[in-house]
Amino acid sequence: MGHQAGKLKHTHKISVCTSCRHKGDHCRPGFELISKLRHAIDMAGDSLTESFEISGVACMAGCDRPCTVAYHSTRKATYLFGDIDPDADIDDLVEFAKQYSVLRDGWCSSVDRPGKLRKSTLARVPASLVVIENQEVLAS
Ligand code: FES
Repeated sequence: MGHQAGKLKHTHKISVCTSCRHKGDHCRPGFELISKLRHAIDMAGDSLTESFEISGVACMAGCDRPCTVAYHSTRKATYLFGDIDPDADIDDLVEFAKQYSVLRDGWCSSVDRPGKLRKSTLARVPASLVVIENQEVLAS
């Protein structure tokens, strides 16, 4: 069933920090990262394009590890990655989007993540609390 949910429009979100600066630099690579990632996800095929929404956010408190990128979906684990480079890491982000879209609860260990994302995970938060809260709201 989780596999089916991954095919629905914009059920998964990727948030990219647009405030991050390269260390010692004035540029904000988040905007470039969003543009390259949108293009790469579009090229990856319809199901991925329809499943993911990519947007910019002001800051995700990973400022020492620019750029930061988060993957989230209501019933799945949330990930926050740091040290993401728009010139080098787009392929890894797209590969992880493919993985994440078909993982039932979004959970995977670092060795299963592609390339850079094995070593640059700043947080992985399970979905269970969110799901439990939702169930309580539905029951009340
Ligand atoms: S400025 Fe990007 S995480 Fe804080």
